[in-house]
Amino acid sequence: MTYNPQIPAWGEQYLEKNKEKLVKYHEWLSITGIKTGLISPKTDQYIWDEIIVHSLYFYKIIEDLGLKKANIFDIGTGGGIPGIPISIVSKKKVTLIDNKKSRIFELDRLIKILEMQELFAEERNAIEILNHEENVVFTLRCYLSTSNLIKEVTKTLKKNTYLVSSNEKNKPKINEKFHVKQEKFLINNNDYRFIDVITSM
Ligand SMILES: C[S@@+](CC[C@H](N)C(=O)[O-])C[C@H]1O[C@@H](n2cnc3c(N)ncnc32)[C@H](O)[C@@H]1O
Repeated sequence: MTYNPQIPAWGEQYLEKNKEKLVKYHEWLSITGIKTGLISPKTDQYIWDEIIVHSLYFYKIIEDLGLKKANIFDIGTGGGIPGIPISIVSKKKVTLIDNKKSRIFELDRLIKILEMQELFAEERNAIEILNHEENVVFTLRCYLSTSNLIKEVTKTLKKNTYLVSSNEKNKPKINEKFHVKQEKFLINNNDYRFIDVITSM
């Protein structure tokens, strides 16, 4: 199947420098990822636009916020989404977290295939990590909603940045302990997606 490995203007710099590895990850997702149930069957173009391009915008936010040096934890990572594209472009430490052993097994194999030195996969409970780490960036795609995330971390209230995939209808609510801002971005010529940027105050 052919597809167009496009990226909107905001991401051209990321794709130019890292195309080979991003394409390799795309190929792994579309074959092994589907075969091992890490993602459900999807077209090659869908995997590129909705997974690779979408994931790269998480890193754009990290750069825009000046958080390039922070440790990144991708919580409920599944097939390494968005943590693997983030790690490919950032070359900084990224830890993929999932509580399912079979997913971590496949991700460990992929880390070797891609020869990623700063990428780690750990079988752990996301909730524990969310309430333990401080001064880190957490990324969450299709795992917890913003309101459920806030419910989980509100008791321990650590100083962190949380980037959560969202949608337009799910407008962030005012919260006295957290600042929530929604980012809207293109994943191709026509389709917009949303990420909530949550910081503890
Ligand atoms: C809907 S999938 C999303 C996967 C990926 N982030 C994506 O965007 O495709 C949610 C993932 O969270 C994992 N998960 C669910 N509960 C968890 C927990 N308590 N701790 C760690 N991972 C968890 C599941 O095993 C699954 O891989």
